[in-house]
Amino acid sequence: MNRKTLKELSRPGRTASTLPALDVPEAPLPQDWLRDELPLPEVSEPDLVRHYVRLSQLNYAIDLGFYPLGSCTMKYNPKVNEEAAAMPGFARTHPLQPEQMVQGNLQLMYELQEMLAEISGFAAVSLQPAAGAHGELAGILMMRRYHLDRGEQQRRKILIPDSAHGTNPASSAMSGFQIVQLKSDERGNVDLESLRAQCDDSVAGLMFTNPNTLGLFDENVEEVCRHVHECGGLVYGDGANLNALLGVAKPGELGFDILHFNLHKTFSTPHGGGGPGSGPVGVRPDLARYLPGPIVVREGGVYRLAAPESTIGRLKAFYGNFGVMVRAYVYIRMLGEAGLRNVTVSAVLAANYLQERLKKTYPLPYDRRCMHEFVLEGRVSGAPDIRALDIAKRLIDYGFHPPTNYFPLIVHEALMIEPTETESVETLDAFAEALERIADEARTNPDLLHEAPVTAPVRRLDEVRAARELVLHW
Ligand SMILES: Cc1ncc(COP(=O)(O)O)c(C=O)c1O
Repeated sequence: MNRKTLKELSRPGRTASTLPALDVPEAPLPQDWLRDELPLPEVSEPDLVRHYVRLSQLNYAIDLGFYPLGSCTMKYNPKVNEEAAAMPGFARTHPLQPEQMVQGNLQLMYELQEMLAEISGFAAVSLQPAAGAHGELAGILMMRRYHLDRGEQQRRKILIPDSAHGTNPASSAMSGFQIVQLKSDERGNVDLESLRAQCDDSVAGLMFTNPNTLGLFDENVEEVCRHVHECGGLVYGDGANLNALLGVAKPGELGFDILHFNLHKTFSTPHGGGGPGSGPVGVRPDLARYLPGPIVVREGGVYRLAAPESTIGRLKAFYGNFGVMVRAYVYIRMLGEAGLRNVTVSAVLAANYLQERLKKTYPLPYDRRCMHEFVLEGRVSGAPDIRALDIAKRLIDYGFHPPTNYFPLIVHEALMIEPTETESVETLDAFAEALERIADEARTNPDLLHEAPVTAPVRRLDEVRAARELVLHW
């Protein structure tokens, strides 16, 4: 197969485009607009098409195979979502069109706000944020405004469990708060002693992921929320794991005050590689006034955009990532209440099925019923030199996307596996079998694992160098 870059294929004078005949008087191009120093490749149309089709085939995707990337909820994306998102009335609307011309789009946003509020048990929702991390920023800024309005500017600390995703401390720090880490207990819950020791009138709130990144439902969730409320703080819910709760539990009823949704995880949408995403935020009634705006309201059967009374302001150009909203809307409407509950039940069943089988081969540090994902240790007895990274890379040779590894940080050599609800039992068995065979290989042929992947187009990369010294070329 031709592996040349476009730059290597380039020959002066070749082109992949044919311009229509000139129908205006010929005039020289303004010289200062032409940038001769840009070495743009000159290639024919077939070379161009082959180059990009070949690159697309080097990619792994959920439409090609199992993608158990823990915490990322890489579920199958129903194609009907794409058809809806591509409809001209949705895809070609200009964000500056007047409200009366886009009533259908505003209705979709309004109904999505309402459905998300119903699913999560919150009073109001804003669709503004563009990702989970962006929703966190919105939530923490709302928390700040809430405390300032109550004259409690001394509340400068945010409590964050040691199992949390890195975006939680990042959002808090960006909003000017100090971060206090809470320990997890031996069952993977927030350690109540650690919480009690920190809870005082300097605390603005707690960022709480439930189920947490170990895939475990916090057994003391209501007590944790009550405790934070008693010391005057708010509880922010990181809703990245909402796929484990749909139709079964509502965070708003468990004691959470604010929560972000990752529409691109829980409610499908092709994602990974940086976007696009959507991270709406939901809040309890008295916090609705702080929501980022605009939100969509309905008055006398007419939909319009409005800024909440004490809004923290705009977070995103125009109205958020509308295309992702269309996909989530279709997904929710298509499944309905019973279907959404089935999503959760099936996701939890698939994770427990794999956990029970794989814990016989790999250490399971928190051995209890998991929710939609679980975390193993990437260690093999009798193979001391093998690490989670070796196991993950060898899975590529078996045709599977590796699980998330080295996160959460509190598990040594973590392998975080999230099968989602959309995989057949045959796929789950094939994945488990691959991991079992890899454990055998680790003992009999450890060098093979150290070299893996051996069949992929790209062999093992120096990931740190690749990130720090990006080489971008055609
Ligand atoms: C638990 C958790 N919180 C927050 C985030 C951030 O979400 P996003 O990637 O949409 O910014 C993630 C993303 O993986 C996550 O897993």
